[in-house]
Amino acid sequence: MNASSQRVRYRREFLRFLAASPLLAYGLQEAWAQESAAALAKDVLNVMDFEALAKGTLPPAHWGYMASGVDDDLTLKANVAAYKNVQLRPRRLVDVSKIDTSVELFGQRFASPIFVCPVGGLRMFHTDGELAAARAAKAKNALQVLSTMTSIGVEEVMAARGGGLWYQLYIPPAWDDTEKLVRRVEAAGCPVLVWTIDLLGGRNTETATRFQRTDTRQCASCHATATGGRRNSAMFTGLSSTRFNPSNATWAWVHRLKKLTAMKIVIKGIETAEDAKLAREHGADGILVSNHGGRAAETLRPTLDIVPEVVDAVNNQIPVLDGGVRRGADAFKALASGARAVGIGRPYTWGLSAFGQEGVERVLDILNAELTMTMRQCGTPTLAQITKAHVRRA
Ligand SMILES: Cc1cc2nc3c(=O)[nH]c(=O)nc-3n(C[C@H](O)[C@H](O)[C@H](O)COP(=O)(O)O)c2cc1C
Repeated sequence: MNASSQRVRYRREFLRFLAASPLLAYGLQEAWAQESAAALAKDVLNVMDFEALAKGTLPPAHWGYMASGVDDDLTLKANVAAYKNVQLRPRRLVDVSKIDTSVELFGQRFASPIFVCPVGGLRMFHTDGELAAARAAKAKNALQVLSTMTSIGVEEVMAARGGGLWYQLYIPPAWDDTEKLVRRVEAAGCPVLVWTIDLLGGRNTETATRFQRTDTRQCASCHATATGGRRNSAMFTGLSSTRFNPSNATWAWVHRLKKLTAMKIVIKGIETAEDAKLAREHGADGILVSNHGGRAAETLRPTLDIVPEVVDAVNNQIPVLDGGVRRGADAFKALASGARAVGIGRPYTWGLSAFGQEGVERVLDILNAELTMTMRQCGTPTLAQITKAHVRRA
């Protein structure tokens, strides 16, 4: 078979794979060698197709780390299912010839309310890691929040994003280290610090462990330990310890952070009206409703169910963000529930794993196109026109 007919064969098989997703028998690596990432990514039909592609391309331990929830993965499943249990209430005969999905957050305007959540160690999924995500976010003018566990330093990622990058903080036990980290993030020009507070109690990532046990590679050749422990990450330089998330953290620490920096402070991991009130009382500038994509505690309520009570608790006075969507219609439902913006974690990581920057761009394009269509169908040309009257909760 000559090179050109082989290429045609791979392409046909790839398209068949997409039509029949999730079939994993197909040799994805060979298709990658034959076609450009951009050309292949363009043919992917929806975000879930990227999941199958990512699984086909990643080593088991890395796939398991990403796919994992905790215990029986019930919180993770509930997050995704919740969006399917809410129905749309479309309004007709509204002029929807022009749709504006843009949103403003803390003085920054983004093309869409769908943003890139912090996900640790993106080089585990693609050699370009956080830089690929940043280039995609820049190309699509999407908000990106960089994880403390980033495999590439905040300065380099900020340059790739072209400014406006937010930083997600895991707090170190020693306040001196927090100060150093915060100063470094400030110096890099981040306007917003997102403190994640949902992992202060530890977690049990069983699915990750199961996949790790099926991986025959030697973890110690890349990691600090034989079971995949992390080496010093890009953001640990100069810190006295590589430990994070001390269990003695309290609300007083929000005050301390506010005093420490002029960056806006968003608290990630709020799941009740009571804590939303406390966050605001202690000076938080925004709230990201999150259960860490089901990776923190088991049998938590899905984020979509929590958003309305959190928005009410803060009298809609500070922005509330949600996450975990798989469809543009899911994003619409979160916005109708009061969220100002909606994050994705696994979906863009699937795109990154499969095609690098082009995969992340395609994931953002698919979700934005679906959101735009839902806005047209529901008679809401702008985000401000999406209200709770546009959804019905079962
Ligand atoms: C592999 C992985 C790593 C993550 N790492 C972080 C992290 O370092 N910091 C953080 O605040 N959240 C982290 N999250 C949670 C995401 O920011 C986000 O809340 C969640 O993934 C949204 O759900 P989804 O993945 O179902 O879209 C991680 C999620 C995944 C899947």
